Amino acid sequence: MAVIAVTKERRAGETRVAAVPQTVKKLMAAGFSVVIESGAGVAAAYPDADYEAAGASIAKTAKDALAKADILFKVRGPEADEIAVLKSGTIVVATLNPYMERATLDALAKQGATAFAMEFVPRITRAQVMDVLSSQANLAGYRAVIEAAEAYGKAMPMMMTAAGTIAAAKVFIMGVGVAGLQAIATARRLGAVVTATDVRPATKEQVESLGAKFLAVEDEEFKNAQTAGGYAKQMSEAYQAKQAELLTGHIAKQDIVITTALIPGRPAPRLVSAGQVASMKPGSVIVDLAVEQGGNVEGAKLGEVAVTANGVKILGVANLPGRIATDASALYARNLNAFAGLFLDKEGHFAPDFEEEILKAALVTQGGAVVHPSLKD
Ligand code: NAI
Repeated sequence: MAVIAVTKERRAGETRVAAVPQTVKKLMAAGFSVVIESGAGVAAAYPDADYEAAGASIAKTAKDALAKADILFKVRGPEADEIAVLKSGTIVVATLNPYMERATLDALAKQGATAFAMEFVPRITRAQVMDVLSSQANLAGYRAVIEAAEAYGKAMPMMMTAAGTIAAAKVFIMGVGVAGLQAIATARRLGAVVTATDVRPATKEQVESLGAKFLAVEDEEFKNAQTAGGYAKQMSEAYQAKQAELLTGHIAKQDIVITTALIPGRPAPRLVSAGQVASMKPGSVIVDLAVEQGGNVEGAKLGEVAVTANGVKILGVANLPGRIATDASALYARNLNAFAGLFLDKEGHFAPDFEEEILKAALVTQGGAVVHPSLKD
């Protein structure tokens, strides 16, 4: 049966791992054998011994782990040292960030790898269990609120004490996809007064059902802002100007702003200008979840806390799911297990059918070339 290798993540700050002991057990039960590079799970609190107890073998180095691998599971794209030792035809399953990390795709193609980008798994019902964007964005949305609360010098809930009353924090969530919805729910649980905005009309009801107030320019363009795939369109300059006008006064009154807006395959839309940041009170906090895709907030810096002249903190936290690595790994690993199930035929034998709908949609390199239609130049 096929061998799945799981190597240590090599990117700075990447604490997650692509398999956890529980998912290893399931892979073994499905007939795979699993080899883990020693220490791969340590940063996510999964020690080697737990993988061994689950039935995996431990390899000293990535090279040893990959020597016999038919499949490589990763969180991020593999690095040059890992790619160099892949056998031709090895299946690689990872979040490859395909639009931004072309060099990795080219290197995988050159090595003859059959690589799948988990971001390209279609959002159809059958594939929900494999949806890494959702599993990770949900945790990122939760964690963004925790980061904001940590950086904020006041309390989130209203408190009436003998020494006086503390006002509830005002939290504004911009972009209400999976991350934004969880951010709303988390901020509400902490007792904040929450408002939210998005350009997709479907989000209005979702926001209200979580007990937050919805705010948006609801014109004709807004009514048509959702693509068939459920994503946002790039909005016109005229819409963006109206949006800025509506939101400027609102942002000035907020204690915490959390932005999550993304448009697939494009840089993140700019939603908060330097002027709007400057309008906020000293001590206010902004968390820009889109910072890795170029950022929603002017002045946000990846991996840094930027403090503006007026004392507003802009958190450009990289890899929020990595700050909740134990759960993020467990959910990601389950997503990958479900995906690996597609490599088995009806009898449970390892026989990937690369024409299968989900595999075909996620396939990015094969036979020495980058093959995904959206990545051919
Ligand atoms: P995303 O990560 O691509 O974007 C985050 C949010 O930013 C979206 O709600 C988007 O509308 C919003 N946005 C984009 N431009 C904006 C702007 N200029 N101003 C304000 N907001 C802006 O979205 P995510 O979280 O991936 O969700 C996208 C959709 O997919 C949602 O409808 C979600 O419910 C749906 N979905 C469906 C699944 C399924 O059926 N299997 C699974 C997960 C999500």
